Amino acid sequence: MIDPYGRKIEYMRVSVTDRCDLRCRYCMPKGINRLPSADILTFEEIAEVCAAAASLGIKYIRLTGGEPLARLGIEKLAAMIKNIDGIERLTMTTNGVTLERKLPELIAAGLDGVNISLDTLDRDMYKSITGFDCLEAVLKSIDAACEMGIKVKINAVVLKETLGGVMDIVSLARDRNIDVRFIEMMPIGEGAAFESISCDRVMEIIKDSYPNIKSTETSDGRGPARYYHIDGFAGNIGFIDAVHNSFCKSCNRIRLTSTGFLKPCLCYGDGVDLRDKFRNGSSAEVKAAIEKAVAMKPEGHCFADKGSVSERRDMFRIGG
Ligand code: 5AD
Ligand code: SF4
Repeated sequence: MIDPYGRKIEYMRVSVTDRCDLRCRYCMPKGINRLPSADILTFEEIAEVCAAAASLGIKYIRLTGGEPLARLGIEKLAAMIKNIDGIERLTMTTNGVTLERKLPELIAAGLDGVNISLDTLDRDMYKSITGFDCLEAVLKSIDAACEMGIKVKINAVVLKETLGGVMDIVSLARDRNIDVRFIEMMPIGEGAAFESISCDRVMEIIKDSYPNIKSTETSDGRGPARYYHIDGFAGNIGFIDAVHNSFCKSCNRIRLTSTGFLKPCLCYGDGVDLRDKFRNGSSAEVKAAIEKAVAMKPEGHCFADKGSVSERRDMFRIGG
């Protein structure tokens, strides 16, 4: 599918649940109302959307949440999606807390890579950001994923209080072929109340220790990150400067929420309700609805102007 600005849309992010076992301050405040299970798509429904999307040229699916591992039997969904004709890559974004245990089944199901969210290597700070003392479990999952040979990326959202720990996060890429990516806080849901620290500030901190850090001049071809390399490091350092620098020109994605709403852009509330289409319609209608969402894709986001962000859903409902 080609959108109105000539971008090839090949990637769909799929939020499989709005639940999570952590309570990151900028994402899921305490006491949120969870959606009733009947509103959340079943595995069969998710697979139906993925199959329709694949027939329209989507090749790459990422499972997100909330926390995708909080959805019971997620490895079954992974296998269902990976078996769809046309799906070449299946990945997952997870907080990593329960990943170690589930990795063997996920890899057997065909998972090709994991992005693990980790903002700090300081145990107390981890607990203060996420609400839980789970740093050790996440580190074990990272090791396990590397040992099992699956592609690992670390996503670190930059907060004022984690700036002092930037070099700890960078060090994860020294000995292991892990890409570490720093992400600017986007003004979506709870995140809107936080200061968005620019990736440039993170880069300045890294340059103090590694003045020779060099651009790799490529993104990995699939996403918004700009990558850099430090001599002697096994992995790369990436920056997702969502707010201070727009990467929308190369955007290749659409997003399916856990309730079956297909969003052409993270920033705006617009999109198409697919659940209605397959609960009461035909597969041709599902396909037409996907094409409609792609046709609605805006040229770019407006995160730099918080007042214009029209998305009112929380990040854990959309999939970060
Ligand atoms: N801005 C940027 N990233 C966010 N995440 C959650 N909320 C935001 C936000 N407002 C990140 C999480 C995780 C991924 C799922 O999305 O930290 O890395
Ligand atoms: Fe859970 Fe991720 Fe939100 Fe943290 S950022 S509460 S890990 S969904």
